[in-house]
Amino acid sequence: MLRAQNVVKCYAGAERPAVDHVDLQVGAGEFVSIVGRSGSGKSTLLHILSSLIRPDSGSVFFRGRDICSAPESLRNRLRHRDFAVVFQQRHLLPYLSALENVLLPFMDGFTPVGAERLETGRGLLRRVGLEGKEASRPGELSGGEQQRVAIARALIRGARALFADEPTGSLDYATGESVMELLGGLNAEGLTIIMVTHNEEFAGRTGRVLRMSDGRII
Ligand SMILES: Nc1ncnc2c1ncn2[C@@H]1O[C@H](COP(=O)(O)OP(=O)(O)OP(=O)(O)O)[C@@H](O)[C@H]1O
Ligand SMILES: [Mg+2]
Repeated sequence: MLRAQNVVKCYAGAERPAVDHVDLQVGAGEFVSIVGRSGSGKSTLLHILSSLIRPDSGSVFFRGRDICSAPESLRNRLRHRDFAVVFQQRHLLPYLSALENVLLPFMDGFTPVGAERLETGRGLLRRVGLEGKEASRPGELSGGEQQRVAIARALIRGARALFADEPTGSLDYATGESVMELLGGLNAEGLTIIMVTHNEEFAGRTGRVLRMSDGRII
């Protein structure tokens, strides 16, 4: 599904590349974790794979197509439709309800969200275990519940691949555990997941662990 080839990214002014000649392949339906010390390049690699940033050199192929040299319009479409991204900081809007946060990708500020999409949003909230919390605002939800809202929102457009950067990073063990269970369930239903984590135990439960050091996969 996704293949990175010789990917290099060096931030301006840095002595060494943050991502240094990385090759990897992720098959459809895989659950892959990326671990490594702070600063080893995990987030940078995830951002390149999910087309948030472009590498300096090398390529990323999604379903056989080079998405690094693709025009920004195609990369936008990938980010909006094919890829779901969640971060440690959940980026929920505090004055919107859980359901409204999930439906945010459909909101343009003018047109009301249609009944079908509303139902999709409710269904996703049910899927992540938040039935009955549709009207709650982020401040009324626990950290784990907020992360579930962020995951539901990331998936609202029907993405087949989820990129998660330390989705359990700010959660206590038990709450992180429940988010891992959710991700495991979504993967069992066919979602491809690439997850950065500092938690070796959670990484060990994924199908494959990639270890990064100084920008390389070791
Ligand atoms: N936007 C940026 N501009 C300049 N340098 C950056 C930027 N983002 C990251 N870096 C540098 O690139 C290297 C890799 O950073 P990255 O965030 O990918 O590491 P990480 O493995 O995700 O670390 P952490 O576990 O702390 O999140 C680090 O040396 C970092 O300082
Ligand atoms: Mg990081």
